[in-house]
Amino acid sequence: MTAIETRGLTKRYGEKAAVDRLNLTVERGELFALLGVNGAGKSTAIKMLSCLLRPDGGDALLLGDSISAAPRAVKRRIGVSPQETAVAPNLTVEENLELMAGVCGAGDPRARRRRVLAELGLEGEARRRARVLSGGWQRRLSIAMALVADPEILFLDEPTLGLDVLARRELWEVVRGLKGRTTVVLTTHYLEEAEALADRVGILVEGRLRAVGTPEELKALAGTDRFEDAFVALAAGRGAA
Ligand SMILES: Nc1ncnc2c1ncn2[C@@H]1O[C@H](COP(=O)(O)OP(=O)(O)O)[C@@H](O)[C@H]1O
Ligand SMILES: [Mg+2]
Repeated sequence: MTAIETRGLTKRYGEKAAVDRLNLTVERGELFALLGVNGAGKSTAIKMLSCLLRPDGGDALLLGDSISAAPRAVKRRIGVSPQETAVAPNLTVEENLELMAGVCGAGDPRARRRRVLAELGLEGEARRRARVLSGGWQRRLSIAMALVADPEILFLDEPTLGLDVLARRELWEVVRGLKGRTTVVLTTHYLEEAEALADRVGILVEGRLRAVGTPEELKALAGTDRFEDAFVALAAGRGAA
């Protein structure tokens, strides 16, 4: 079953299209990576799909509901960990989670909080204020907050941006642990992250989707056995999409 289907999804800023007629399908249970350099349009795409930004053209169906016609229905079924983190710095980890659990309603907020604390390995940090946490732990908290409502689709916008290599690898394990339980769309500009985590990768260049496929398919398409070379070739426009 299809989790996400976009049709000509477009967002313009002035003359320039930040996301340009995006046609993309993500299946349920898939871990999909949207890969692109800074400014490629990744965050803009995520913001439209998560109903934080209205498209100027096209539409997207999330689990059958339109982001334009039924944003409330969409929001109930998704979670978002934004690029600029949504963590409240002066609240503790558990207060942040409880706040989020309260906002999203339905079910026992404490039970939800306990579940995601355990799932993200955050129990030891529960009483610490968010602002004293390392970048890696803050990211975990942001992901925990996105998971508290038990979403069917999870958006992670540059989840490892600015983290050191060890924290990044730890977060990869967290993301792998989500596989299968929820559909995940993550954005990254780290090639090795997309290759390591994603079932399929979409390469975004100046708002347009250049190529989509498994890392193996993209390498075959570009005629190379190195993912980095495949990205360079496809992003530069050689090799058909
Ligand atoms: N609020 C905004 N106003 C004007 N231009 C914007 C705005 N947000 C993003 N852009 C532009 O849209 C393009 C895509 O940005 P963004 O989606 O943030 O890319 P990415 O997340 O891939 O780095 C960039 O050229 C960026 O400068
Ligand atoms: Mg971004």
